[in-house]
Amino acid sequence: MQIDVFTLVPHAFAWLTEQRPVATVLGTELDLRLFGYRDTTPLANGQVDDAPYGGGAGMVLRVDVAAAALDAVYGGVPDHRVIALTPQGRQLDQSVVAELAGEERITLLSARFEGFDERIVTHLCSDAISVGPYVLSGGELPAMVVIDSIARRLPGALGSEESAVEESFSAELDGGLEYPHYTRPAEFRGWPVPEVLLSGDHGRIEEWRRDQSRARTAP
Ligand SMILES: C[S@@+](CC[C@H](N)C(=O)[O-])C[C@H]1O[C@@H](n2cnc3c(N)ncnc32)[C@H](O)[C@@H]1O
Repeated sequence: MQIDVFTLVPHAFAWLTEQRPVATVLGTELDLRLFGYRDTTPLANGQVDDAPYGGGAGMVLRVDVAAAALDAVYGGVPDHRVIALTPQGRQLDQSVVAELAGEERITLLSARFEGFDERIVTHLCSDAISVGPYVLSGGELPAMVVIDSIARRLPGALGSEESAVEESFSAELDGGLEYPHYTRPAEFRGWPVPEVLLSGDHGRIEEWRRDQSRARTAP
């Protein structure tokens, strides 16, 4: 899968690319490309944003700058999904992650300050996605959230330390929340591990885990 990110801060992604799962699949299952708006801006002095028409505070990412960035990489608006990361977008959840992970290529556009000129969202993008009902200072963290959530689904992404088969929101748990986990010591400060987990009875353990998952998931 190829994920392209357009950003004002390409170096912000260094940490992500050094960590699993992204580091594990980079160059094999995942091709991650980072593009800086300033590298292709048609404006002088690396300008990428401007004051909002109608007045008010802040700076808005210019549509000609975003278009020039897409032109430079794809020769226009590409056929694959181009996703604006914005609080006004469709909220990311596990089903949206699964949908995106099924694509061969996606492009993520991030903004900073006041956000996108709306024409970027309506004319250059096919989707708009929000990572939650709160406002972050830039689209870099949302882009990393999208990339990480997709990367962990790619073949070979996860080591033996974790499993994506049975985890929160998975079909194995009927889309519900995962049951609690415990590890050694079996008792700490008088806080014991549930007896069933020490019983060695896999049938009872499985039943307990399902019950816990259902109880946590119920509204
Ligand atoms: C400070 S925010 C802009 C907020 C915008 N003025 C508003 O009130 O909705 C700057 C940029 O961060 C990114 N961003 C912030 N919160 C986000 C969220 N919840 N989901 C996705 N992107 C977000 C977007 O790229 C956004 O354009």
